[in-house]
Amino acid sequence: MADQRKKLAERLAAAREGGGAKRVQKQHERGKLTARARIEILLDPGSFEEIGALVIHRTHDFEMQKQIYPGDGVVTGYGTIHGRLVYLFAQDFTVFGGSLSETHAEKICKIMDLAVVARAPFLGLNDSGGARIQEGVRSLGGYADIFYRNVHASGVIPQISAIMGPCAGGAVYSPAMTDFTIMVKNTSYMFVTGPNVVKTVTNEEVSAEDLGGATTHSTKSGVTHFAVENDVECLQVMRKLISYFPQNCDDKPPSTSYEFSEEMRPQLANLIPEESTLPYDMLEVIAELLDEDSFLEVHQAFAQNIITGFGRLAGKSIGIVANQPTVLAGVLDVESSRKAARFVRFCDSFNIPLLVLVDVPGFLPGTDQEWNGVIMHGAKLLYAFSEASVPRITVITRKAYGGAYDVMNSKHIGADYNFAWPSAEIAVMGAKGASAIIFKREIQDAADSAAKAIEKEKEYQDKFANPFLAAERGFIDEVILPEETRRKLIRAFATIDRKSLPRPNRKHGNIPL
Ligand code: HXC
Repeated sequence: MADQRKKLAERLAAAREGGGAKRVQKQHERGKLTARARIEILLDPGSFEEIGALVIHRTHDFEMQKQIYPGDGVVTGYGTIHGRLVYLFAQDFTVFGGSLSETHAEKICKIMDLAVVARAPFLGLNDSGGARIQEGVRSLGGYADIFYRNVHASGVIPQISAIMGPCAGGAVYSPAMTDFTIMVKNTSYMFVTGPNVVKTVTNEEVSAEDLGGATTHSTKSGVTHFAVENDVECLQVMRKLISYFPQNCDDKPPSTSYEFSEEMRPQLANLIPEESTLPYDMLEVIAELLDEDSFLEVHQAFAQNIITGFGRLAGKSIGIVANQPTVLAGVLDVESSRKAARFVRFCDSFNIPLLVLVDVPGFLPGTDQEWNGVIMHGAKLLYAFSEASVPRITVITRKAYGGAYDVMNSKHIGADYNFAWPSAEIAVMGAKGASAIIFKREIQDAADSAAKAIEKEKEYQDKFANPFLAAERGFIDEVILPEETRRKLIRAFATIDRKSLPRPNRKHGNIPL
């Protein structure tokens, strides 16, 4: 027995050493923490329980039997974040570059299966040179085993990926199928083919950072939701993000304690400029409406004409989707539509109520938009809202024009409460464009065409660019004052806290391309 205990201690010690002191030092020199140090920061102190520390690879090719590292390049197990159970893996770059062998993949799959059985979130810390080159197709099969599980866990448990080193080739597809990714600037990258292949095939010269670094993916492609400065910030963002989520699709999101007080927000009364073409910052509206410092913006640097993020209202988690008038006047386009659609679908999967703030002049015109499929992307957002069965409330702060009025969580597509501020303008199109079309002849025939155009624009503006016609029809439930909006929202969300909306049975819908 004493002998076995000694062997166990030796093997566990070997597992903890990873690839050895030299490789650990190299990891530190690159500005990266080790897999185990990352886990310590991510989880509540002392909560980690490791599974599979003694697993070793089974390869004999290339003399691999002489290179045995217990754990095989990935640390797996479970622990808690804010006292709640999570399952996780952390790839260890110091062992074969964190590359994925058959057994390395089996360890990750086991954790994923346990996470689904235990109905707890699954977190991945990626830092890997990709498929273990010595193993060939067994490694490729291991990736596919993970992808398959990602898909079947989607919408059942939250899945989050941190990219904390290389993540290339097919390895990118697992993070891509998880709900959120967080990338560390300058030490991580994601691409399907690296700079060398790009150079060979397209003759383009590009660095790894420019091709697939955190800045690129958080601004240009939207592949990552967060770009952070270092490993510690990455893990802190992960902890914060998960604080808004329930454990699984059958649970409700956790609430923080909240004491009701005076919920009026007088600062909101003067936020909207007199001139409706002038911008104002929707982030200020969000900050006023939510509990103090509770907003976590998602995809902050991507498609900034729409804001998505999580916050708390009277202690309860909500998801926020809001047009941003300071960027492209808050217009909907290809990227903002797909950004918001995916966010809405996540919230709906995990019972997170939605607050939608609307100030949208319409969809962005142009060949670029049409040729890139704005029809399908706009439809995707329309589909996502229409399908969502979580509590949904809309506040129109200013413009709600054209198809964008319908798409942005209108009454017609199932929102529970639709409010509008007195500054709201709800119409088929802006007054200038509308009056130019319907009063074309009158304007042309006038002695002073320019003066007539202004007169007709004003006439249209007065008649249609207000919330009252929509309120008369019941499309707007109530015209409310900006300063009372927070109080109204808290009350309205409380009424639909137990919303239940059975849908017809089907296999699944078919979301637009
Ligand atoms: C086995 C690997 C490895 C791999 C790195 N190592 N990648 N071992 N399989 N894929 C080992 C190295 O031999 C080295 O071992 C250690 O990890 C660190 O690697 P370095 O090259 O010294 O580190 P660095 O200079 O930082 O470069 C990192 C790297 C590079 C950019 C990731 O190692 C690299 O290009 N690796 C190969 C990447 C690749 O082509 N992977 C396959 C992609 S295809 P020692 O003993 O010296 O410490 C793929 C298909 C998946 O993944 C498809 C799924 C559908």
